[in-house]
Amino acid sequence: MSLNYAKRMDNIKASEIRELLKLTQQPNIISFAGGMPAPESFPIEELVKIGKDVLENTGTLALQYGPTEGYQPLRDAIAKRMAKVKVDVKAENILVTSGSQQGLDFAAKIFINPGDIIVCESPTYLGAINAFKAYEPKFIEVSTDKDGMDMEELEEVLKNNENVKFIYVIPDFQNPSGKTWSIERRIKLVELANKYNIGIIEDNPYGELRFEGEVLPAVKHFDTEGRVAFLGTFSKILCPGLRLGWVVADKEFLNKFILVKQGADLQSSTISQMEVAKFLEIYNIDQHIQKIIDIYKVRRDVMIKTMEEEFPEGVSFTYPEGGLFTWVVLPEYMNARELALKALEQNVAYVPGGSFFPNGGNENTFRLNYSNMNEEKIVEGIKRLGKVIKESMR
Ligand SMILES: Cc1ncc(COP(=O)(O)O)c(C=O)c1O
Repeated sequence: MSLNYAKRMDNIKASEIRELLKLTQQPNIISFAGGMPAPESFPIEELVKIGKDVLENTGTLALQYGPTEGYQPLRDAIAKRMAKVKVDVKAENILVTSGSQQGLDFAAKIFINPGDIIVCESPTYLGAINAFKAYEPKFIEVSTDKDGMDMEELEEVLKNNENVKFIYVIPDFQNPSGKTWSIERRIKLVELANKYNIGIIEDNPYGELRFEGEVLPAVKHFDTEGRVAFLGTFSKILCPGLRLGWVVADKEFLNKFILVKQGADLQSSTISQMEVAKFLEIYNIDQHIQKIIDIYKVRRDVMIKTMEEEFPEGVSFTYPEGGLFTWVVLPEYMNARELALKALEQNVAYVPGGSFFPNGGNENTFRLNYSNMNEEKIVEGIKRLGKVIKESMR
């Protein structure tokens, strides 16, 4: 039987990461593939206490429908926390979403008619590419260097294309590249978006996971005309299983997100929202984030050091100052998808980089995650990977 599915389904393929993650569930695999937080960082004891408290004392509220915009005390707390990235907003500027992934889907739903253009970094987050593809956009990729997106190239794109709807950026410890935008590029991005009247979707799950130096002001901080929607999430600073993220935008812009949220799922889980609000009220989340940073910084250091020792000449990689990923570039003649199969034979997994380029190419790249494996496994996995790379080199 073949049902008559919508044309958009032709664009939607199973995420390569999901497929890989299935494989990497096996305990003997050293996986640098997913983007999963360290499970030992989850505040399980605290959440057990909070869960009991929320249900015992406010059970009828926790198990009931709530407002589409989100649970008010959580919106208040998120608005306050936005000061961390120098964004001064009120609760009325916050919509609670089911993870920031939902914010990505909504962004495309709000802006994209088939054939419209989304401008993004090259490479960019695979989950965003997949979410956006359902709305049948064209993608224009803009090159990046160590300071973020190339602003001259961006201006050429905006000048020469009429139906660019938004620019999608991950300015802090980008997934997949680990790169962080300079302040100058953030300011210039807003300037260009103002000049050409384009929206900006700033996706920022990792900004607070900075290992050295100060947390940088978000692009939203430089927004002068209300054209930036900032997407935040509790997934990487608390835990992803509660599925809570948020959108920050000026009122009119946020209203569009609220309208589509109503249609999508009415609201995010009331009980999850109440639990996180309680966590923020009675515990110090900054201390909790520091614990996560302490774990990831050591793992980043171990991964980078081992790569320096084990990867052959001709292979380069980024040095992330925070977040979860580093990005590896092999000599151009090499193919990271083919290499991934050889690595899997050695029980090591990563995500081939080609998947992060919406228009294809760049098959000589791959992404490594360092948050989810302990130091011993990182050393062993990188050693095996180094050997696989050396054996495949000319
Ligand atoms: C750049 C980026 N955006 C969004 C997400 C989605 O996160 P969540 O829906 O868990 O908030 C991720 C997850 O890894 C990500 O890396």
